[in-house]
Amino acid sequence: VQEKRYDITDKLNLVEQEIITLLKEAGNLADQMDIKLYIVGGFPRDLLLERVNLDLDLVVEGDGVEFARRFAQKLKGELDIYHEFGTAVLSLENNLKVDIASTRVEYYSEVASLPEVESGSIQQDLFRRDFSINALAIQLNSSSFGQLVDYFNGKNDLEAGIIRLLHNFSLYDDPTRIFRGLRFASRYGFKFEPRTKELIRQAVDLDVIEKLSNNRLFNKLELGLKDRYPIKFINLLQEENILNYISKNISWDESKESLANNIKKVLRWLDELKVSFNFDEWILYLMVLISGVEEEDVKEFNKRFNLKNNISYRLLNTLDVDNIITKLDKVESNSEVYYLLEGLAIEDIVLILIKDFSLREKVRLYLEELRWIDIKISGDDIIEFGIQPGPLFTEILKAIKKAKLDDKINSYEEEKKFLENYIAERNG
Ligand code: CTP
Repeated sequence: VQEKRYDITDKLNLVEQEIITLLKEAGNLADQMDIKLYIVGGFPRDLLLERVNLDLDLVVEGDGVEFARRFAQKLKGELDIYHEFGTAVLSLENNLKVDIASTRVEYYSEVASLPEVESGSIQQDLFRRDFSINALAIQLNSSSFGQLVDYFNGKNDLEAGIIRLLHNFSLYDDPTRIFRGLRFASRYGFKFEPRTKELIRQAVDLDVIEKLSNNRLFNKLELGLKDRYPIKFINLLQEENILNYISKNISWDESKESLANNIKKVLRWLDELKVSFNFDEWILYLMVLISGVEEEDVKEFNKRFNLKNNISYRLLNTLDVDNIITKLDKVESNSEVYYLLEGLAIEDIVLILIKDFSLREKVRLYLEELRWIDIKISGDDIIEFGIQPGPLFTEILKAIKKAKLDDKINSYEEEKKFLENYIAERNG
């Protein structure tokens, strides 16, 4: 393996001065300690693509923890040390975090097991990583500051848009790399190098994904759905026959893809309303992915991945959405709109529009107006008529609210009159 070096100080100009100063200080300290220091992983990868990634992963050829201690002292930062891994996380005042480790070799005794770790050279440390594009390092020592160190042609692969595994056992060591590969392919629009593609197919065929705990598997799915191009990510899961490891009856076809393609449109529309919402966009992709799966399988999915209530309810509600759409299509009054949508979370409502955007006026009415309508009449007003809290009480309140939603009454006076009439009519 041949080491290639490139001067990339010009690319470093993209990075804010504060970070450059930090990296230079780290380099100076490494000089004093007579050790080699590099920044690795997402930072160099994205920098070559002219994107600034503030994941700062430093590796020291030598004692990482000792370096971390001295660096923390110098910058007056807070240090968490993980002795069992020989790593440390430095938290700085400006909210920056720096991960610090020693260059190391990893040995995996079993598929998907935790590796045994031993110190090694920078070359070995880069070789234990997943893809060539992630195996780049920028040296930080002052005399070599800004030199890209490339042993595995990562720079070429980045420029050519290629994802290449570094060794044949990589996916058996760590099957989550399959998901990472798909995530990078979707994020950057990269292709797999043919041998890498073959390795992915082989590993999937040998069921390595089953070695992952449910927790890790779901987390890898979630990361893909949170990434820049979730639809591409799902397309790749489908192409590589991975979806059935997520849920056995899950399907992904053109019609679901086109639903997923509606998500952005609906979110833009939602953004223009007079009300704002807080929710996780990735859950919408998950809902579209799961939609169409039978109730039993949704329940099983929720249970298997131990999903939190907010997510598991959303997935269960996808079962009902077509039914709601049919009804919403036929409503004739505001109150019907209200009672159909009341109790749904915003994600459920967005799913309705993803499936049928022509319902947007009704949904807008609900979100901007109907949702906020409240009656002014109080329990005491009803008690005055000699009615005690109970079923009739609830029925009356509901009737008043319905009349108000349908714009038949507006003021407190009108509500009172409505109440009087209602009770009079009921008493014959
Ligand atoms: N890495 C690896 N195998 C994994 C996870 C991580 O080889 N299963 C290595 C890669 O070199 C990666 C680095 O560790 O670049 C840092 O990992 P992480 O921060 O998780 O990912 P990034 O590559 O920075 O990706 P992202 O941009 O999604 O954070």
